[in-house]
Amino acid sequence: MPRTPPAIDPAQIEAAARLLRAGRLVAFPTETVYGLGANALDPAAVARIYAVKGRPATSPLIVHVASIEMAQSLVASWPDAADRLARRFWPGPLTLVLPTAQVGKPALASNHVGTAALGRPAEQSSAAVPAIVTAGLPTVGLRMPAHPIALALIRAAGVPLAAPSANRFTQLSPTTADHVRRGLGADVDLVLDGGPCQVGIESTVLSLAGPQPVLLRPGGISRTELESVVGPIANAQEVQAGAHPAPGMHPRHYSPRTRLLLVKDGRLPDQGKGIYLQHQHPPSREDIKTIQMPAAAPNYAATLYDTLHEADDANYDWIAVDAPPDTTEWEAIQDRLRRASAG
Ligand code: TXA
Ligand code: MG
Repeated sequence: MPRTPPAIDPAQIEAAARLLRAGRLVAFPTETVYGLGANALDPAAVARIYAVKGRPATSPLIVHVASIEMAQSLVASWPDAADRLARRFWPGPLTLVLPTAQVGKPALASNHVGTAALGRPAEQSSAAVPAIVTAGLPTVGLRMPAHPIALALIRAAGVPLAAPSANRFTQLSPTTADHVRRGLGADVDLVLDGGPCQVGIESTVLSLAGPQPVLLRPGGISRTELESVVGPIANAQEVQAGAHPAPGMHPRHYSPRTRLLLVKDGRLPDQGKGIYLQHQHPPSREDIKTIQMPAAAPNYAATLYDTLHEADDANYDWIAVDAPPDTTEWEAIQDRLRRASAG
């Protein structure tokens, strides 16, 4: 479904970049969800992200870059697997978790883009990512977003941007600028509007910090696509004790306020006023408002959060979701629906 790319207003990007350099927060569009951005190298600015979101300090943030070179400048090593994955899927909905640059290594003062152009190896141009960004972990999550406004913003700011989804902790991720404004209000200094997010669910988070790639969060790039490039991938649960528990993997996450039920075969509760998000199974009750969700996983993902935001605003007693198929192409959607229905 081709859409006109959102227009970039250079003056607005420059104004946003100025805010970021001054330690302020800017919400910006990505292809997955809207991000709440701050200069990743400014610990005080990053602290504001945690405060505005109400997010526990144990949950690390993703750092957004505009080039592979900028990513390399933030890590201690850039393994071959990272290179192959980045070249295949960046810009795009894939976050790579890698060992951070060691504190004490010569830090890159300000201009990552310029250093990249000199083609210096990562080891010589490492900037230490502040511990507040990584929640004190020795690793950092990096991604290059595939939205022209996000890329223009990072380039204009001249620094990598730490950005979680632009919603309060445990609430639904925003896929429009309006969701961000309604969720965060005046707590965000500027919201750049890039239209609805085309992928619609968060990036895949893959750790390359250990001997085998580990899937920490399924997302916009499927496991099958990743495995075609790097071979077998382990699940976070399979990784043995001793490893830091996958941070930020709180079971209740991505939730609407309204109770969300994941239902099989269209079986709806007898009581209450609800709404049904149908995929393949017609509802057991005819008196219930039913929304037909897209048949294909990518289209379903693109509309899921917006549909949940709308259903949530309509004050139903419950939102029932027709459980989609149990296949790998639905893995990320299944994950979000499971979390939204937990608790
Ligand atoms: O699509 C996305 O990834 C969006 C857009 C804005 O880029 N961002 C996003 O951020 O979803 P957030 O903060 O809502 O989720 C970050 C995820 C969490 O699951 C967190 O645990 C994981 O990334 N993560 C970040 N850094 C990590 C690290 N060093 N080790 C393990 N997991 C990490
Ligand atoms: Mg989030």
